[in-house]
Amino acid sequence: MDHAATGQEALARIAGADDLDTLEALRVEFLGKQGSISGLLKTLGKLDPEERKVEGPKIHALRESVSEALAVRKDTLETAALDARLAAETIDLSLPAPSTPRGAVHPVSQVMDELAEVFADLGFAVATGPEIEDDWHNFTALNMPESHPARAMHDTFYFPDRNDDGREMLLRTHTSPVQIRSMIQQGAPIRIIAPGRVYRSDSDATHTPMFHQIEGLVIDKGIHLGHLKWTLEAFLKAFFERDDIVLRLRPSYFPFTEPSIEVDVGYSSQGGRRVVGGSGDAPGHAWMEVLGSGMVNRRVIAAGGIDPDEWQGFAFGIGVDRLAMLKYGMDDLRAFFDGDVRWLSHYGFSALDVPTLSGGVGTPA
Ligand code: PHE
Repeated sequence: MDHAATGQEALARIAGADDLDTLEALRVEFLGKQGSISGLLKTLGKLDPEERKVEGPKIHALRESVSEALAVRKDTLETAALDARLAAETIDLSLPAPSTPRGAVHPVSQVMDELAEVFADLGFAVATGPEIEDDWHNFTALNMPESHPARAMHDTFYFPDRNDDGREMLLRTHTSPVQIRSMIQQGAPIRIIAPGRVYRSDSDATHTPMFHQIEGLVIDKGIHLGHLKWTLEAFLKAFFERDDIVLRLRPSYFPFTEPSIEVDVGYSSQGGRRVVGGSGDAPGHAWMEVLGSGMVNRRVIAAGGIDPDEWQGFAFGIGVDRLAMLKYGMDDLRAFFDGDVRWLSHYGFSALDVPTLSGGVGTPA
């Protein structure tokens, strides 16, 4: 039997196959159950031992070379098919976006943008800090030395290891450490807001383990409580796009401000929706706490490397998620972070709907 001729013919036909279907048909023809080379293998059993010694290795070698040729050709054809597909599937980035965009901007992102817009108009720059903080920036420099009871109030997530400076590492429990970082980095005067994520081990309808704050810090000469009150009133009126906002300033306590003030906004419930406006003490109205604030404690200014005899300031920390709930009528904070596209398409915003002061910072959802 002339196996060499059989082999040469098979290899030539394999090399000439120009699609995967043809190649598969050849594989079946040669190596399939009824295939010609499989047939040759079966004849081995009928040969006498001497003949088998000669024929066996030849037939096995034939089978080997054919199956290798099949594999090589398959690889080549697959690569060519992929190249052709990649060449055909180009994306034209210059095409206009579809007229009905499918994504939506999350209300938290929208409210962050609205707040940045409002504060930019008041002359505030945007600052940032790390979400993984050390306990000096998050607590100590903010007048909460170790074993200060206020540390326990924060339900902090700690990391098991300390950093190179021997400081305990944690997920920041508020955006206030950015006050310290800004003072150290830029010195006085300062007028910044710092938006971002914060973390506390807490969870129910109005608390989630991760939530959002915007810190505000003003350091300058002759700053007093009147500046704080005016700024908060101006910001809340612009943000809610209403002039009938009524604020309630309540004395409070934060280690990093003195005096400290919590701010509530009056609202009423209309048809299951919260509508901001009017005194919370009026019939059918209530108060909603939206932020903590106060005059920056002298010790905090000093920890930031600034002379508290020369410079004063005020700071505030706004709960962004609560503000979003109040403005756009959501009642469960947990849904904010479920990632449910139905919720997002209901409460989300068009990516084209950029907040501006002239066009209105927000659009009723
Ligand atoms: N950091 C405080 C909190 O998270 C809020 C705050 C910020 C209070 C700035 C006063 C000044 O509760």
